[in-house]
Amino acid sequence: MTLNRSNPEAIDVLLTRRSVKKADMVGPGPDDRAMERILAAGLRVPDHGRLTPWRFFVYSGDALLALAEAIGRIHKNEEPNATDAQKSKIAGFVTSAPVLVILASTPSDAKPVPKWEQQLSAGASAMSMLIAAHMLGYVGQWLTDWPAFSPGFKAYLGLGAEDQIAGFVFLGSQSETPPERLRPVMSDVVRFFKTREDVAMDSPVKPGNDAET
Ligand SMILES: Cc1cc2nc3c(=O)[nH]c(=O)nc-3n(C[C@H](O)[C@H](O)[C@H](O)COP(=O)(O)O)c2cc1C
Repeated sequence: MTLNRSNPEAIDVLLTRRSVKKADMVGPGPDDRAMERILAAGLRVPDHGRLTPWRFFVYSGDALLALAEAIGRIHKNEEPNATDAQKSKIAGFVTSAPVLVILASTPSDAKPVPKWEQQLSAGASAMSMLIAAHMLGYVGQWLTDWPAFSPGFKAYLGLGAEDQIAGFVFLGSQSETPPERLRPVMSDVVRFFKTREDVAMDSPVKPGNDAET
């Protein structure tokens, strides 16, 4: 397959993609075929050393209710002094969107690939799934919140001490057009270097100083 095939519509998908709040999602969520493709996109990400440093837990239907109950029990155990408002927020955390992918970062020390790089790979996976969902006509939102940091919930998923929950990726359909989110101004965060002078101006070590150091 030619890899540098032009596909102007594909870039539009990237440039228009945005999150939709899980509370604003409606059904249908991605069906099994769509989920297979979304997950395949999540697996096809840069992964230094081919360590597959991620795991996916995919919930839909009644499994979401069972998951909510489990999270409620763990929250009660770990946060006995939580307010009613906190309890009800946690109780409803996983139930508002039709499909949920919990993405775990599971770095390995089998090869000397820095853990940070393996964690970045999990981020790439989440992003690829969001883009794939958008391409297939669904919407998504990537959240963390209390369960992502709960030792009890990590244990519930069978995750190890070095593992982290990279995110809860909620997927569904859009009910109404959300307001646009303010985006960063490119010039605030990007610097271009096109000539030797550009490089020289920005380099902390000026040309010709090498011999002095
Ligand atoms: C790792 C990670 C965790 C996030 N967790 C939350 C969260 O708990 N609550 C929240 O409101 N947004 C959270 N966000 C932000 C949203 O996913 C998203 O960036 C934002 O809603 C809109 O961005 P988008 O329209 O470009 O997708 C998180 C983002 C990342 C990358």
